[in-house]
Amino acid sequence: MRKNIVAGNWKMNKTLPEGIALAKEVNEAVATIDLACEVILGTPFIHLSSVALVVDSNKVSISAQNCADKASGAYTGEVSAAMVASTGAKYVILGHSERRAYYGETDAILNEKVKLALENNLIPIFCIGEVLEEREADKHFDVVKSQLENGLFSLSAEDFGKLVLAYEPVWAIGTGKTASSEQAQEMHAFIRKTIADKYGKEVADNTSILYGGSCNPSNAKELFANPDVDGGLIGGASLKAQDFLGIITSF
Ligand code: PGA
Repeated sequence: MRKNIVAGNWKMNKTLPEGIALAKEVNEAVATIDLACEVILGTPFIHLSSVALVVDSNKVSISAQNCADKASGAYTGEVSAAMVASTGAKYVILGHSERRAYYGETDAILNEKVKLALENNLIPIFCIGEVLEEREADKHFDVVKSQLENGLFSLSAEDFGKLVLAYEPVWAIGTGKTASSEQAQEMHAFIRKTIADKYGKEVADNTSILYGGSCNPSNAKELFANPDVDGGLIGGASLKAQDFLGIITSF
């Protein structure tokens, strides 16, 4: 069965000492809790190996926020999936809307990244979601369906079954404007049905689909209570241990 997951996405925040301190704080707090979800810290590349050393890997997993679309070689400034995996990271966030919007990541590029991540035994946390104009034009289901089809649906059922998905309506990211519980459930159910149509009900039922976008300790419980919402991808509220823990304990 699918897992409940709360994944932090630190984005481009925290120096290395600050990141290590935050990871230690989260790690110490979860040690005392009977967790009902997997906890993931999505850190900048340079933090990965240091953070991996200070957390209990039975309770806290590490994720990168990106990886290269090439395996290795003369790609100055890039970090490969193999390098990410060698730090002890288990996950990699791919297709975040900020990467799509600011760094020109297309569905085709993302498809290469997903394949390389899987070849290196990393689990992609693959992000999809519409911008405000698309929702207002009632195109949000079409947009999300095409992101799934073009980014992921060339994968085999076996490979698709390894993924975690995150639905992040772009208009809710960092804006303080959360999708309503109904909007989240409606889209998550649509995503699951789209997966079922392509790969069958079993694969769809086993896929964790996280919600992301201004999720915080006050709204997490209601969002996570939806049958098709299996946890959250948390930006701003993952930067303070107390807020992040408030979300983790919403399950
Ligand atoms: P937010 O970011 O929680 O700050 O809205 C979520 C995300 O971008 O993953």
